[in-house]
Amino acid sequence: MTCATGIRTVSFFDYPALFAASRGEYTAIFDDVCGRGAFIKQRDLAEFEQNLAAFLGTRYVLGVGNATDGLHFALRSVGIGAGDEVIFSSHTMLATATAIHFSGATPVPVECGPDHLIVADAVEAAITSRTRAIMPTQLNGRTADMATLQRLADRHDLLIVEDAAQALGSRFRGRLSGTFGCASAISFYPAKVLGCFGDGGAIVTNDPEVFEHAVSLCDFGRNSTGEVVRWGLNSRLDNLQAAFLDFQLKKYEGVIFRRRQLAALYTARLKGVAEIVLPPAPDSDPDHFDIYQNYEVEAEKRDDLKQYLKDCGIGTLIQWGGQAVHQMKALGFTQHLPYTDRLFTRMLMIPMNMSLTDDDLHYVCDTIRAFYGYSE
Ligand SMILES: Cc1ncc(COP(=O)(O)O)c(C=O)c1O
Repeated sequence: MTCATGIRTVSFFDYPALFAASRGEYTAIFDDVCGRGAFIKQRDLAEFEQNLAAFLGTRYVLGVGNATDGLHFALRSVGIGAGDEVIFSSHTMLATATAIHFSGATPVPVECGPDHLIVADAVEAAITSRTRAIMPTQLNGRTADMATLQRLADRHDLLIVEDAAQALGSRFRGRLSGTFGCASAISFYPAKVLGCFGDGGAIVTNDPEVFEHAVSLCDFGRNSTGEVVRWGLNSRLDNLQAAFLDFQLKKYEGVIFRRRQLAALYTARLKGVAEIVLPPAPDSDPDHFDIYQNYEVEAEKRDDLKQYLKDCGIGTLIQWGGQAVHQMKALGFTQHLPYTDRLFTRMLMIPMNMSLTDDDLHYVCDTIRAFYGYSE
């Protein structure tokens, strides 16, 4: 085995670096919040919710414990329940289907397309008399063609609830992911582009009734005046996490800029490698503004490439442990999705994070090029 330019370590995601990048500021936030004893539902959370709503241009943002809860509560708040079917792309985190299942509805997985996002024709083919909603996952920081999905939803009288866990800041035709349809949820899992130091998520909506319903589901059934109006659970975004997130949100545009810069560099270095299919480049399609939560390629001899990169000190990841949701037979899925099946034998995420330097990226590209026999 020969590595492109000698051994260097490029981790897939550097968790300690997340904190180290602004250690002084985070320590000061910790001191301030903890010194005030402001742990649950305090002003830092309210400020973050307001600032995120302003960023998104939506009326309501509700911090929750994680996006899985957020998706579950969003579905229930828009009226999805027992007897309903909700269509989603099988190339998503199991969380999407979990949320549908626990809302009482049946999750119906369908195919994704060349950009790895849900395919409108596949959605249409899966519609039955019980279908009530479409839940597109805005995967890898890219927003689906929401115009086509909305037309489909209108024609069949369906709701749209977005899984925007991976896509804060991503846009389709200028409109931000998470602001389509009647509700959405975003994740602040540490590896997300806006990631906290533990679990966190948010529900986004413009609808006051959906918001009120979600508030009660997250807070033991209590509405915003404290009255118990239904059975509810407990799912809160920690006040301390909200304070960290609010600090990061102020720098968010710069983070997106850098990730798009890295994606452009990957395109420039790898576009001539015939054995690799790259994600769409930044600005390659005026309809899409991608934030590159992940950089997921399709690769020939994927497993050999992964091992080669590992031997050269480069971390990669196969999303969802290499299993699409419909392949999880223990959960009762019977769908046959050949496009997704094939994609799952080829897809690989290569490093895309804020610790990645240009030199790291060149090393990754040199190594991939060497594996397929291209010159550096
Ligand atoms: C597409 C998608 N949906 C849902 C989730 C669940 O988010 P959380 O871990 O905040 O519950 C994730 C997290 O990785 C995700 O990537």
